[in-house]
Formats: sequence, structure tokens, C-alpha cells
Amino acid sequence: MRKLLVIGIGAGNPDHMTVQAINGLNRADVLFIPDKGAKKNDLADLRRQICDRFVTNPKSRRVEFDVPVRAEPTSSYRVTVDDWHEAIAEIYESLIRDELAEDGCGAFLIWGDPSLYDSALRILERVRLRANVGFELEVIPGITAIQALAASHATALNRIGDPVLITTGRRLTEEGMPQNAGSAVVLLDGKCAFNTLADQDLVVHWGAYLGTPDEILVSGRLGDVGAKIERIREEARRKKGWIMDTYLLREPGEPEDQPNRLVQTIQYKNSSERPVRIVMEPWGEQYLVPPHKEVQIRLFGQSLGNGTVEIEQTEDLLLIWPFKGVFPRLYIDDRELMQAKQI
Ligand SMILES: C[S@@+](CC[C@H](N)C(=O)[O-])C[C@H]1O[C@@H](n2cnc3c(N)ncnc32)[C@H](O)[C@@H]1O
Repeated sequence: MRKLLVIGIGAGNPDHMTVQAINGLNRADVLFIPDKGAKKNDLADLRRQICDRFVTNPKSRRVEFDVPVRAEPTSSYRVTVDDWHEAIAEIYESLIRDELAEDGCGAFLIWGDPSLYDSALRILERVRLRANVGFELEVIPGITAIQALAASHATALNRIGDPVLITTGRRLTEEGMPQNAGSAVVLLDGKCAFNTLADQDLVVHWGAYLGTPDEILVSGRLGDVGAKIERIREEARRKKGWIMDTYLLREPGEPEDQPNRLVQTIQYKNSSERPVRIVMEPWGEQYLVPPHKEVQIRLFGQSLGNGTVEIEQTEDLLLIWPFKGVFPRLYIDDRELMQAKQI
């Protein structure tokens, strides 16, 4: 019986290759490398690089094959995809039949992970159902673009206990931000579908060419960075001839997404003839308030916390202990006061 390995090769960085994937490559007699046209040469190149670097089996050979281009959707998206898959199934069938011995082992190298927006498994199921050639199937998982995105932004995908929805640019445009998903990850978006949500208060973590030396990352409030992402995306696409990008969308909520705002102001006047030294604890930052001057101590943070500010005065020293989670800025006549030399 022929054996087929469907190997996830990671999302653009050869270092994404797992030990299982490397071993899989070396078990195969034939490595099938798809060629998706001149614009996606870089992607075929990465597959070749991976083979050059990891294949040590002297008996293995590579077979490159053209992948037909999908027709523009006409009446039905599903019908167009169905026709396209049928055409690829025919190619897969002849590759398996013509390139593999009866007991041979072949490997398909799949971008990212075979389970995520990839049709290889579905198409191989079609080939099996056509019953012209028999084979056993084994799937080896890979690092997805989603994992690469989360890692590059050093963020968790889900909010505590919340679901994550994985969707496409087309569905995001049609359906908007899903109400019941804490976070949404969007793939396959050629048209900056996030623009359709520009009026919503959302945070975006965007990444293009993830895992590659050309990786670009942008994050922030969608309203602040949406136009920037669109511009960077278009420039990069024009320069390289192709782009792959993925993003995470969610309502602001994690502490790091919340903007700091003014949560409390303390007004203090030094009516004495001598400067008064203010020490902001627990940091120990020191400021000098000249005689007869009024200072505003503004506390910035994300919430009022317990709201209690403790103030202790000695002759010419004011020790101030704000509550947790805030940081201070001091102003005299609306100009920020610089820290004084520590004593
Ligand atoms: C056909 S899907 C394949 C997904 C792949 N199977 C995976 O596990 O990541 C292609 C989409 O994946 C995303 N993608 C794949 N590789 C990427 C990368 N290196 N950087 C950014 N997005 C990527 C993009 O949204 C792209 O449109």
C-alpha cells in the first residue's frame, strides 16, 4: 500500500519545522512541491530551502507540480471551489499513481498546519473516494500563521475563559465582529476587511510575512492604526508582488490594551518661604516646589484602584504614597516639572 504523509512545514520560518516533520520528510521517497505561479515563487522557494536543509535521505527525490489557479467566484463561491478541488484531485491522483511505487511513501509539504484553511486533506479524501488509487494517510502537524502571529506579538490568543473565532476577511466583512467570541483571528483577507469595523472600539494585532526576515508587525487601536496597516500592506505587496497577513481583533480589555488616563489630581501650594521637596513613593522620585508656587500632582493609570493617597509631611518634605497601578506627573503652571537631584 502506498503511504502519504501530509506534513505541516510552518508558516514561513524553516525553524518552525518540528522534529516529527523533519523525520517525516526523511521517510518519504518522493517530496511533492506545489508551484503556485510566479507571484508565489517565494513560497515554493521556502519549501525547497526546507528540503535542502533537512532532507538527508539520499533516496528521496522532489517532484514539483503546478497548482491550477482558482477561477474568480461566479454564481457560487462553493461551486467555484468545488471545481478547483476536482482539478487538483486529478493532479494528486496522477502524482500518487505515477510517481510512487506500490509500497512507496510520498510527502505533501503543507504551509502552516494542514488543518487550517488548507484543502490538501479534503482533496486527498476526494482522491480516495474516486477509488482509482489506494493509499494510507498520516498527518504531521505544523506551526500555523496564527501561532506565529501570537508569538510575534507576545500575546495570548484568548482572553481568560473566552472563545476565539477563526475566520476569513470575506466572512468578517459579511458578518462583522462576532458577538460571542472574545477574540477573532482573521486570515485570507486581501481587502483589509477590518476597515468595515473602523467605527468600533477594537484592538488589532496585525502581522505580515510572519516568521520570515520580512516580518512586519503593527498593533494598537483599530481607529488609530487601521489606515497605517492598509498603507504598509499595500506598499509591501507592491514591492514583493505578494503578501500574506493575519490579524487578531478584540475589544480592548487586557491591561496592556487600556490607555492610561488621568485618574486623580492633587493640588498643593507651598506657601512657605522655602522650597518644599516632594518625594513620590514607592519610586522615590523627588521634585522641588519653589516658595509660593502651586503644584499639580496628576496620577495616571487605568482605574482609581482603592483611590487613597497617603501624604506625610515633615518640615520641608512631602512624602506621597499614591495607590497601586498609577504613575505620577507633576506640573507647575501647566508645565511638567522635572525630577530634582535626589538627596
Ligand atoms: C490558505 S491559508 C493557509 C494557512 C496555513 N495552513 C496555516 O496553518 O497558517 C493562507 C493564509 O494564512 C495566513 N498566513 C499564512 N502564512 C502567513 C505568514 N507567514 N504571515 C502572515 N499570514 C500568514 C494568511 O492569512 C494567508 O492568507
